[in-house]
Amino acid sequence: MATGDRLTMPLGEAMFTQRAIRRFRPNPLPEQDVLDILTAAVRAPSGGNSQPWHFLVVRDRALLDEFAPLYREAWWAKRRDAGIHGPEDISPEDRSMQSAMRLADEIGVAPVIVLVCAMAQGAGAMASVIPATQNLLLAARALDIGGTITTLHRDVDERVHRLFGIPSEVQIVYCVPLGYPRGRFGDAQRRALAEVSSLDRWGQSLIE
Ligand SMILES: Cc1cc2nc3c(=O)[nH]c(=O)nc-3n(C[C@H](O)[C@H](O)[C@H](O)COP(=O)(O)O)c2cc1C
Repeated sequence: MATGDRLTMPLGEAMFTQRAIRRFRPNPLPEQDVLDILTAAVRAPSGGNSQPWHFLVVRDRALLDEFAPLYREAWWAKRRDAGIHGPEDISPEDRSMQSAMRLADEIGVAPVIVLVCAMAQGAGAMASVIPATQNLLLAARALDIGGTITTLHRDVDERVHRLFGIPSEVQIVYCVPLGYPRGRFGDAQRRALAEVSSLDRWGQSLIE
C-alpha cells in the first residue's frame, strides 16, 4: 500500500496532537512504518528543491547503546553553555527541561534514532531539512509513533560522525528518537495566535 494511503489520520488530528514524546517503550517499530515515516519526510519542500537531506536511521542495538552516552554528554554540554551545571540548577517546575533531562538519561530506550543530516555545512542546507523533520514527526504521529527534535553539541560531533561513518562535510542537524510513547499524545501548550500575529501592519490585531 502506498505511504499516502497508510497515513489516514486526519491532518487536523495529527497536527493538534503531535507533541514532544521523550519517553519510549522499547518495543521495535515495524520496518514498514519507519519506511513510511521517511517516505513522508522526503516529500517536504526545500530551497530550490535542492533536497539536501540524508536520514541516517539507527536501529542496531549496539550502535544505539554506544550513541546514548554521547547524547547525554551533548545534552549536558548544551546546559553547561547556558550556565546550568547539574540537575539542581533546573527548576522542578520547568517540566519541559525536566523531561528533556530525563531523555538525556533514557534515549537508549528508543528503538530507533534518526539523525537528520544536511549534505553541506551552513544555515541554508540546515534550514532546508527543517520542513522534512516536521513531516517526519507528523507521519510518525499518524502511525502512533512518538518522537521529538533534539540537537547534539560540537563536543560530541566528531565522535558521532565517526561512530556512524558520517562524512565530515555532512552536518548532523537533528537527532530524532522514535518509539511508541510511554505517556500520551495530546494537546501542546502554545501561545495564543493573537499574541503572535498581526494583520497588514505589525501590531494590528489579526483576530477581532
Ligand atoms: C530546534 C529544536 C531543538 C530542540 N532541541 C531539543 C533537545 O535538544 N532536547 C529535547 O528534549 N527537546 C528538544 N526540542 C523539543 C522542544 O523542546 C519541544 O518541541 C517543545 O518544548 C514543545 O514541546 P511540545 O510539543 O510537547 O509542547 C527541540 C525542538 C526544536 C524545534
